[in-house]
Amino acid sequence: MKYTSTINIPQFQEDLITWFEKEQRQLPWRENQDPYRVWVSEIMLQQTKVDTVIPYFQNFMEHFPTLTALAEADEQKVLKAWEGLGYYSRARNLQTAVKEVVAQYDAQVPDDPKQLGDLKGVGPYTKGAILSIAFDKAEPAVDGNVMRVLSRVLRIEEDIAKAKTRKTFEAAVRDLISEENPSAFNQGLMELGALVCTPKNPSCLLCPVQEHCVAFREGVEQTLPIKKNKIKQSSHTYFALVVQDNAGNYLLEQRPDQGLLAQLWQFPMVKADEVDEKHLSAYVQEKFQVEEVEINDLEPVKHVFSHLTWFLNVKYVTVKGEITGDGHMELLSKKEITQYPLPVSHQNIYKQL
Ligand code: ADE
Repeated sequence: MKYTSTINIPQFQEDLITWFEKEQRQLPWRENQDPYRVWVSEIMLQQTKVDTVIPYFQNFMEHFPTLTALAEADEQKVLKAWEGLGYYSRARNLQTAVKEVVAQYDAQVPDDPKQLGDLKGVGPYTKGAILSIAFDKAEPAVDGNVMRVLSRVLRIEEDIAKAKTRKTFEAAVRDLISEENPSAFNQGLMELGALVCTPKNPSCLLCPVQEHCVAFREGVEQTLPIKKNKIKQSSHTYFALVVQDNAGNYLLEQRPDQGLLAQLWQFPMVKADEVDEKHLSAYVQEKFQVEEVEINDLEPVKHVFSHLTWFLNVKYVTVKGEITGDGHMELLSKKEITQYPLPVSHQNIYKQL
């Protein structure tokens, strides 16, 4: 049997949409239906809370007010505007995708699901969010919030950590979604997840769709959604080297093009298991081709990512003589560093200087 077969669908739509239209938060990306703004907001809102996103979104729109402006912007400036939001590949993929829209679609965001979904970084969720919110199309937009809400309303006990489970929820949304107002319907589900149907202690007594909710009726709302395969955390210890030359400039290196924090800039790091602390001076001399070094401790920095943790033993290194770095290193004044995108952990090192 279908999960939606016992739901009074027209009543569910009306209860959800009426509530959303009355209770929705005024958010900067809700000021109009500009597909570019909707797109940027949905990318920022992946894995990031609304309150965190608001100032980033506003700043981003001041710097890159149109799709064309973003396509033409310097990549480092885009990363700088993303600094602190995390998951930086989102920013690079977004810029790749808007360039594609300029080249292929005359700078108009396509409203065709296939064309939209083929753009870099536009997955099924983002595609559905843009189609419904910007183009009023009745397409599902299923993220973690929506899975939480619908796992409870429909008592879906499948593991939401499994990629294929999203399809179950998309099928349910296709059954439930309002053809008249898909934008308010999808945003209503998201808003309900954020304000009422929260992960812990949901406010069921205030819920506009309580009478439809199977989990509430059966007293199991606290046990849903079911999420099994918890990602294993790993920890990594590094030396982070604040290397300063005779002229007072600091050495920064750019991270590789792929992977964690790709292309961001940092104080040079070396894994603690690759060099013994008592050989750190020799390591620095060799790596940067300098004669004399002096090393002092700064405050250690810890940073927790979604799947791993960094422990940075921060060392202040003064060197005599010219520093030789490779193409991915630059010597920068304290002021110049502020123009470069740094991971939050390295901003915390910078604050100690
Ligand atoms: N989370 C994801 N998309 C959202 C949106 N458009 N508004 C509020 N929260 C969201």
